Amino acid sequence: MKEKVGSIRESLNTDIKEVKTIQDIVELKSKYIGKTGLISELTKGMAELSIEEKKEFGMIINELKNEANSLIFGKEEEINNAILNEKLNKEAIDITLPSKKIKRGSLNPMTRITEEFEDLFVSMGYTVYDGPELETDENCFRKLNLPLGHPARDTQDTFYLKDEVDEYLLRSQTSTAQVRAMEDNTEKGPIRIVCPGKVYRRDEDATHSHQFMQIEGLVIDKNISMADLKGTLETMMKHVLGEKTEVRFRPSYFPFTEPSVEVDVTCFKCGGKGCNLCKDTGWIEVLGAGMVHPDVLTMSGYDPKVYQGFAFGTGLDRMAMFKYGIPDIRTIYGNDLRFINQFDRKDEE
Ligand code: DAH
Repeated sequence: MKEKVGSIRESLNTDIKEVKTIQDIVELKSKYIGKTGLISELTKGMAELSIEEKKEFGMIINELKNEANSLIFGKEEEINNAILNEKLNKEAIDITLPSKKIKRGSLNPMTRITEEFEDLFVSMGYTVYDGPELETDENCFRKLNLPLGHPARDTQDTFYLKDEVDEYLLRSQTSTAQVRAMEDNTEKGPIRIVCPGKVYRRDEDATHSHQFMQIEGLVIDKNISMADLKGTLETMMKHVLGEKTEVRFRPSYFPFTEPSVEVDVTCFKCGGKGCNLCKDTGWIEVLGAGMVHPDVLTMSGYDPKVYQGFAFGTGLDRMAMFKYGIPDIRTIYGNDLRFINQFDRKDEE
């Protein structure tokens, strides 16, 4: 009996080393611990033994049984784990694979740049003011110090709905918002607005469209000076064109501001060294601005001795053309998907 136990143990130890598959385990189970397995056979052989011997061998056989169980089941678990691991490795989802691209719409560059301006000014306490595109001659010109026949009207020839005087026209500048904002303000108190919107002129070439976009800014308050204007425009240009951008004021003339300035920024293509974009000057003209003319304040009900203000106006298309390198303004309004798709996720790049 003892010999038998010894040889079963030995063969089990050899067999277990050979096990590779679950099938091998099944076979081992039936060979050793199954109903007709070697260990059960041993138990059967005990029938002829004396009670003393039964006790002794019972213990020995039990020990063997426990040993066989733990060996075989341990091995089974090992194999199952290996199978599972292999499966996990094989079937794992590779999250580094590029996903299927879901086409997302993209914002027109004009919407994008308009929102950029709006966000900045709202963050500085301005209100976004909306004015109509269909305007009166009075709001578009006369109340901005451009009386009938004023030569500065020539550069802003637009589309008229009847005649030049009393009927409507398509606004040629967002500066009309200055008049409207001042007249709307019944208390004649402080104003801080930006007005982005479409304007119209009789122009059409690669850099001029009959319809384009401007953004106007107007601040009216007590003790407003050119320093406020300069600080505001510096903040604005750095925000839109980059931190390194510098701003330069040049004396200019606009009928509705006094003094008036034209504002240049350092060329963002060459950083001010000179290139084809800035025509080797290092500067690019981007907007007109100035201190609101006392007559303009007076015409809309403000007392220029109490209130001062600054105003600025810039072409949003021009800004977008600079920022995104768009060579022809007409493509912005061309409805060509190949154009718009280029701005897909531009800000996330
Ligand atoms: N409205 C002017 C234009 O269309 C631009 C401009 C110049 C706006 C000076 C202003 C300003 O507010 O102060 O050319």
